[in-house]
Amino acid sequence: MQDTKIFEIPSVQAFRRRLREEGPVFQLQEQALVIFDPKIAERVEAENYADLTMLDGFSDVVRGRESEAVSWHQVRGAWLTQMRTLTSAEGFRRLAQRMQGVLDAEAGREQDFVWLAERAMLEPLIPAIIGGLSPRAHKRVVDEVLSKVALVLSDIDAHRCPPLHRSKMWLYQFVSSVEVRRELKGRASGKRPRQQDLTDPMVDMLPDLGVDRATDAVTALLTAITSSPGAAAACLFYEWQRQHEWRERMTAELSAHTLDALCESPVRLAPVTARFVKEILRIWSSPPIVTRRVRGDICQEQVDLKTDQVYVLSSFFVHHDQTTWSDPETFNPDRWLAESREQCPHGSYVPFGWAPKSCVGANLGLGQLILMAHLLATRYRLDVRNPDEAKMAIASVIRPMDFHGQVRRV
Ligand code: HEM
Repeated sequence: MQDTKIFEIPSVQAFRRRLREEGPVFQLQEQALVIFDPKIAERVEAENYADLTMLDGFSDVVRGRESEAVSWHQVRGAWLTQMRTLTSAEGFRRLAQRMQGVLDAEAGREQDFVWLAERAMLEPLIPAIIGGLSPRAHKRVVDEVLSKVALVLSDIDAHRCPPLHRSKMWLYQFVSSVEVRRELKGRASGKRPRQQDLTDPMVDMLPDLGVDRATDAVTALLTAITSSPGAAAACLFYEWQRQHEWRERMTAELSAHTLDALCESPVRLAPVTARFVKEILRIWSSPPIVTRRVRGDICQEQVDLKTDQVYVLSSFFVHHDQTTWSDPETFNPDRWLAESREQCPHGSYVPFGWAPKSCVGANLGLGQLILMAHLLATRYRLDVRNPDEAKMAIASVIRPMDFHGQVRRV
């Protein structure tokens, strides 16, 4: 990859080798099919998740009865409706304030920038998922989310997962789900106020979902944010440091707006930065590899999968395919200029996954990364300790490594 130092874990190296030797669809083991072809991936995902009914609630399982069928698409639809509020100017303003709060508190301290980026993205997102909690309950949810992030990052940063970490995670998970359940019940009974967050639509759906499945849905949201948004922000920090010309262009663009004004419409008001962020999500797309269980036999062109077998997808390899992208290894945000769009054929850009299970927070995440760039352009400076040591790691998520220093207020 051009002018970037890369560290790849062995499993990614092995995928890269097999892709080169055998093409975009190959058998991994007897039970697993690798599908790095964008069109086939799209079709297989669509078939695998065409009918997605939520699992039975825990108490129904214990009682040996079936929960009333609720489609996952219904839950997603309710979240997507609430996302309109979270991506309104007011929603972005609140998010930006919380991001600033995390960065202000860390300014002047020596940091692993990856961990800082994770915290500066995820802690502000949690009230958008479940707001109105007491400081103690909020901290419990934050602890649970960060414990999952630590596990993800421990694939190469072993110190993130000390010996008792996994056992503690169970405890964090239990305690956090108690808080979620309490909040759901409190709102349903009128003892706690309704909030403009993603938990709220689950309160309306409680009669159908039951409290177990509503808790599971909110927990699924908290889990969904643990792999991509923070890793994307860490890559934004990294490219912000190295792409000097782009940093100057973005700083000029972003400085022309107050943070408040930018919140009206981050993508529209900052098109240069939006292209930069889109390119980060292309070239450093996380998670690079995802594994799926086959839910019902799938028989399509080049694909013959039986129930309970596995298939493997990769937005990362799709985004680096020489046959669909021009010069895919080059970081070039201008490929997103309107006149270059034909270089991105349908289905070849999937930083938010594949329908019908693609990311429900895509617009929120995209806007949040632009707000982060605004903070870097106007309020903070990243002082990287040894810039020459930093490199990119292609691992469970893609993020920089050996990337330390201080964030300073300017
Ligand atoms: C830049 C930021 C983000 C990126 C790059 C991103 C990326 C992704 C990707 C790649 C998936 C699919 C994962 C898979 O196929 O296994 C996904 C799913 C999901 N994301 Fe995001 N995400 C971002 C932000 C968010 C935010 C802010 C939220 C909510 C607050 C969110 C909620 C979800 C949910 C709920 C799913 C699962 C959807 C389902 O199972 O139907 N994401 N995201």
